[in-house]
Amino acid sequence: MARAAFIGWRGMVGSVLMDRMTSEKDFAGFEPAFFTTSQVGQKGPRIGLDTPPLKDAYDVKELKAADIIVTCQGSDHTKKVYPKLRKAGWKGYWIDASSAMRMNGDSVIVLDPVNRTVIDKALKKGVKDFIGGNCTVSLMLMGLGGLFHAGLVEWVTSMTYQAASGAGAKNMRELIEQMAFISKSSKKLLDNPASAALDLDRKVLSAMHDDSFPRANFGFPLAGNVLPWIDTAMENGQSREEWKGQAETNKILGTKKPIPVDGLCVRVGAMRCHSQALTFRLKKDVPLDEVTGIIREANDWVRVIENTKEKTLEKLTPAAVTGRLGVPVGRIRKLNLGPRYLTCYTVGDQLLWGAAEPIRRIFRIVLDHIS
Ligand code: HSE
Repeated sequence: MARAAFIGWRGMVGSVLMDRMTSEKDFAGFEPAFFTTSQVGQKGPRIGLDTPPLKDAYDVKELKAADIIVTCQGSDHTKKVYPKLRKAGWKGYWIDASSAMRMNGDSVIVLDPVNRTVIDKALKKGVKDFIGGNCTVSLMLMGLGGLFHAGLVEWVTSMTYQAASGAGAKNMRELIEQMAFISKSSKKLLDNPASAALDLDRKVLSAMHDDSFPRANFGFPLAGNVLPWIDTAMENGQSREEWKGQAETNKILGTKKPIPVDGLCVRVGAMRCHSQALTFRLKKDVPLDEVTGIIREANDWVRVIENTKEKTLEKLTPAAVTGRLGVPVGRIRKLNLGPRYLTCYTVGDQLLWGAAEPIRRIFRIVLDHIS
């Protein structure tokens, strides 16, 4: 029976992965072992099976026993352990939610509802490294992959509204701490129905500038604010998050001639759903109902939302999408710019299709491949 090692299963992405695997009854047909960077010897996660005590996530000898390693531990751990494993002659499959190896020439970025053919070809060729994509890119392709597959996209520009979860669990907490700080400071004014909105505004602003305002993780207020920079700077003026758009989209799709993808990535005060406004220049003028049909039929999770105020506000928001696998796409219409300019808006759960779900699915695909 195949052996699989899980590292980083306790963190945010890892625990969503464990939940999804448990609810899909994925812990069957292989022997699981759980690893830890800090709690060797303790109990593993509750998955409805007896599992051996936790092993050391830096112990190459123990890890080498696995046919498949699934890690949500993060890039630093990958950079430390992966080269040692390969050097020690390990020939197994490495499935990684972190970005460390995403752009390596011999790795595949996994998003099987979109690039199953790329994955199958790679497995046949003997590729062993399967890496989860950037959340924004994966969510854009889950929603709009149909247009790319139909060969309709000349270029696309994306304006993102990214949730706190993309920055990490501590940032999600900090967002709510910021909200609580602001609410506390403005409570008196809020309790008085006669207080003026501009007084409230001044109070909120002074709370945001207070020295004790919680900002250790974001560095700035996110509550009541938007932050138009995500990740480090590239030399050309893009942020790294913006750079990933084109690099990863084309790698996922396996395009020969890269499709230009660019835009601005912005952090907003949502908890765990990334939203994006997209503008496509299509290669030809395709009627709107045809375009909509292509988007709708691309996979089992995409949901086209009627372009009305009621349906949009009901179904196309983080509050509606959090915790769900469906990826709604709405506001679909042609822009005044001309008949080849299409706009739309999409929302997706950053921890599901943006992180854990492609990893869960590639694990099953690899397991089937080797069983
Ligand atoms: N880099 C993304 C973000 C999350 O900061 O929202 C992970 O892909």
